[in-house]
Amino acid sequence: MLKIAVLVSGGGSNLQALIDAEKNGDFTGGKLSLVIASKPEVYALKRAEDANIKTVVHIRKDYSSVEEYSEVLLEILKENEIDFVVLAGFMTIFTDVVTKYYENKIINVHPALIPSFCGKSYYGMHVHEAALKRGVKLTGATVHFVNEECDGGPIILQKAVEVKNGDTAEILQKRVMQEAEWILLPKAVSLYCQGKIKVVENIAYVEE
Ligand code: GRF
Repeated sequence: MLKIAVLVSGGGSNLQALIDAEKNGDFTGGKLSLVIASKPEVYALKRAEDANIKTVVHIRKDYSSVEEYSEVLLEILKENEIDFVVLAGFMTIFTDVVTKYYENKIINVHPALIPSFCGKSYYGMHVHEAALKRGVKLTGATVHFVNEECDGGPIILQKAVEVKNGDTAEILQKRVMQEAEWILLPKAVSLYCQGKIKVVENIAYVEE
């Protein structure tokens, strides 16, 4: 059974989608074992507690450098014997000390179709604001492995979502979550736990 850690910084609606999927018996071979929050008092922590998942709060400003923060993050993951890490709205940067140790074992959900609207300044609501500003008619979500390059790891799953006349960033964010993120993220976790994702030369191949 793979032990899964979910890293969060906010409301945790993606975490909730994972909790619900686990309840439905969708994660053959995996168990949600730890939730790490980069901020105290976020709603994601309440969701984890309600689901009886162990929580740890790991705050960036408690450490003088990103290196030190990352070393301790890696220690927490190792101490809890975590096999697989899911970033679900985790807003804090960590270094390659973590990505190297967990190579192709960390996934992230990004609220756009990579390589559109991704990279350093594209996070949270900025992603949807940029999509609206460019006037794209389709956006969506991407689940990808995390490597040293921001949003640059192998792409696992993508799903397109329509942009509609009159959308605000908030409306679009909600539609992307409902129609893409909350579906793709549990699906990717389930595929991973069943050993159905292979990476060859930075390309992820998913077994149907
Ligand atoms: C999601 O839109 C995710 O794609 C992005 O941050 C948001 C997190 O939302 N990286 P939640 O905390 O899962 O509700």
